[in-house]
Amino acid sequence: MKYTFVTLFPNLIEGYFKDSILKRAIDKGVLEIEYLNPRDFSKNKHFKVDDTAVGGGAGMVMNPQPLFDALDNLKQEDEDVYIIFMTPVAKPFVQNDAKRLAKRSHIAFVSGRYEGIDERVIEKYADEVYSIGDYILTGGELASLVVCDAVSRNIEGVLGNADSLEIESFETPLLEAPSFSKPQKYEGLSVPSEYLKGNHSKIRSLKFALSEAKTKFFRPEQLIKYNCLHTIDTLSQKKKR
Ligand code: ADE
Repeated sequence: MKYTFVTLFPNLIEGYFKDSILKRAIDKGVLEIEYLNPRDFSKNKHFKVDDTAVGGGAGMVMNPQPLFDALDNLKQEDEDVYIIFMTPVAKPFVQNDAKRLAKRSHIAFVSGRYEGIDERVIEKYADEVYSIGDYILTGGELASLVVCDAVSRNIEGVLGNADSLEIESFETPLLEAPSFSKPQKYEGLSVPSEYLKGNHSKIRSLKFALSEAKTKFFRPEQLIKYNCLHTIDTLSQKKKR
């Protein structure tokens, strides 16, 4: 997978790939990262990339010209590039999106700064537009990294152990059961005794109960979704019989 980060601030992003699982994937050639700075495409004599908003409003908006030229350039180099804009005005990014996007060969993340990006750029070039949550960041760079990281974990050869993708939160509507490491007792706090007895079916049912409890506490709407899916599943099994 190749990622292109279209950003005025590549330094904000570069550090993340210098020391992580993703660095290993880059060294192995599974991932490739490049940066494209719209400022390098600005036709303004001072390389300006933003201006006040037409029609008024606070703050500066990123001009269309540098982004049009940067993205045209990118598409000329690779017609398969899939262009994603990061903005709070979009649908929320979820795990299923991460899995689906992992099948692409080249993704470009366009990060906005200032008050945002001229809408005509998004209209013309966006294959998809994502928000990472209902809050406003100072720019889309962090959001791009979040999506890039979540997508990358689903690409073969990125995680050391493929099993770690098997039963994770959001693979089903239930949150993952808690995990424990050694020692079994630490500062008087013990791992749940069932985990220690080696009866795998009992461990499985305890983990399921803990999963349900965590989901009920932290994400009750997910538990409702799980119960609905479970009911539909049971009814269709009954119908088959
Ligand atoms: N840029 C600023 N805030 C954002 C958010 N919540 N998601 C994606 N991009 C953003």
